[in-house]
Amino acid sequence: MKSLLSKCFFLGMLLFVAACTKSTKEEDTVPVPPKPAVDTSLQKFLPFKVGAAVNINLLKNNYRYSNLVAKEFNSLTAENAMKFSALHPSENTFSWSDADYLVSFAQANNKRIHGHTLLWHQSVPSWVTNFQGDSAAWEALVKTHIQTVVTHFKGKVTSWDVVNEALEDNGTMRNSLWLQKLGPDYIARCFQYAHEADPAALLFYNDYGHEYSATKRTAIINLVTSLKNRGIPVHGIGMQFHTRYTQPDANLAAAINTAAATGLQVHISELDIAVNPENNPSLVFTPALKEQQASKYLFVVRTFNAITANQKFGITTWNVTDADSWVPTHYNRPDWPLPFDANYARKPAYYSMIEGGK
Ligand code: XIL
Repeated sequence: MKSLLSKCFFLGMLLFVAACTKSTKEEDTVPVPPKPAVDTSLQKFLPFKVGAAVNINLLKNNYRYSNLVAKEFNSLTAENAMKFSALHPSENTFSWSDADYLVSFAQANNKRIHGHTLLWHQSVPSWVTNFQGDSAAWEALVKTHIQTVVTHFKGKVTSWDVVNEALEDNGTMRNSLWLQKLGPDYIARCFQYAHEADPAALLFYNDYGHEYSATKRTAIINLVTSLKNRGIPVHGIGMQFHTRYTQPDANLAAAINTAAATGLQVHISELDIAVNPENNPSLVFTPALKEQQASKYLFVVRTFNAITANQKFGITTWNVTDADSWVPTHYNRPDWPLPFDANYARKPAYYSMIEGGK
């Protein structure tokens, strides 16, 4: 009896060990997804230029950031380093070093540089706001700024946002310092000044709201079309697209296709897709939200990719990762608007961008 029991026990142990071995074997055979033969990057897979707005401090001091930028993008915009107050901090001082650093980085890594921006109602240095002079003096101030900057970067910067955000959402001209001092036709003259300084540069009118306001979109298109019809050297439309995951696809498509219908170059110039437009201070970025954001990225990229090939100037995201996005700071809320997360890892939105370019 005793020996029968010990035999049963022994047999049981054998079966148990066999079962364990089998299950280990089965686990071993679970297929591991194959590594892609060629590693992906946005610039490798998108059939148009793909850019990012970069922060020069991070570019200089953070190798993970600069490596990511070098790897993923083939067009760069300075987030702030080419704005008026950065380049021209006092009347007789131009300060080129940060912007020149970006230019060297871009040249060393074979990237297009898009200039942003020659004239905007923000980033105006105090020497300009305090400037006293008649309309000829104001005109000279603006002409000197534009031509000094464009000449400095001539042959290096491919394209410029000449004027940024000159219209209000209701379609009227923004009552900026520039409108007040230079009069309503200042936009045309800015384009002419830039063109004189670098006739090869592609010149853009850049603004936001194309996708959420038909009124503003129409005003922008009318402005640019009328400049073009007058023979003013305007070559493209920059649509910022600081947008949100709930923006209806139809609005995004209307923006992209209306701009393309002008026949000009189309640049989605500042893309980010917010997931917390309601400013919820305790929002959690759930997997479901990530997927919804990714499908909005997919729609934007796919719709852009469908326009006439030689009008696709490119898509630029505003910043690189969720860690350096301007959105959380600017709106003082948690948000995750970009295709890379705060650890620089690719999000579902990243793979959507690649998918959208197929
Ligand atoms: C933003 C920068 O990201 C911020 O760092 C800065 O403080 C303000 O400007 N539209 C534009 C960009 O055209 O120049 C703005 O960039 C974002 C909105």
